Amino acid sequence: MARKPIIAGNWKMNNTASEGVKLIEELKPLVEGASCDVAVCVPAIDIPAIAQAVQGSNIRLGAQNVHFAEKGAFTGEISAKMLQEYGVDYVIIGHSERRQYFGETDETVNKRVLAALSAGLTPIVCVGETLSEREAGKTEQTLSRELSEGLRNVPDLEKLVIAYEPIWAIGTGRTASPEQANETIGSIRETLGKLFCPRCAENVRIQYGGSMNAGNCKALMAQPEIDGGLIGGASLKAPDFAAIVRFDK
Ligand code: PGA
Repeated sequence: MARKPIIAGNWKMNNTASEGVKLIEELKPLVEGASCDVAVCVPAIDIPAIAQAVQGSNIRLGAQNVHFAEKGAFTGEISAKMLQEYGVDYVIIGHSERRQYFGETDETVNKRVLAALSAGLTPIVCVGETLSEREAGKTEQTLSRELSEGLRNVPDLEKLVIAYEPIWAIGTGRTASPEQANETIGSIRETLGKLFCPRCAENVRIQYGGSMNAGNCKALMAQPEIDGGLIGGASLKAPDFAAIVRFDK
């Protein structure tokens, strides 16, 4: 089975609802008929407006986090069911910014992944090493810990998207080279083959993320292991994001 590429924007804490709607209106005609899956992961408060704005288009809606409990006393959090009611399809889980600034751990990543899956959402699970881990030769060790603990008890690997985001490449303008990204994603697939099954690992989509832009997307997407991108900065401008979505043109 050929894996269908998926290009997802991660707006992070950018765009008010009205700014987001403007961006979507600009984006829609530019990405219409794209051959890959397209999604935008938006701030939670933008979701109602963006859900409406993307209606009838090929742009799917994503969130940037989800709580693991069904409901209850978790001030400030948002449940899978709340996302679902607005037609959210994807949810980013375990982004390095959440791990770094908001105390996200492999254990809480795992709980969120399981909650999202059981609600029918597609988690985009982020993994990646820091610069010092890479320099110390610990990349594989970090990734395999994040994968084995973060994906514990996942019933169906193919229902996930994995995003490999080397932390040193996020927002820094410093991208992993296409070969480097391909090699690391290949080793992620190998680890997943051992944790799950070789066929599931072959089928699961693994994105690259970290300073991917209109200029470098073609070379990254040409690599056989790379099935898409999770795009931060470059997803905030419609022409830039559309150029990535149209990497094959
Ligand atoms: P960037 O962010 O494209 O701005 O590097 C990617 C991400 O953090 O998902």
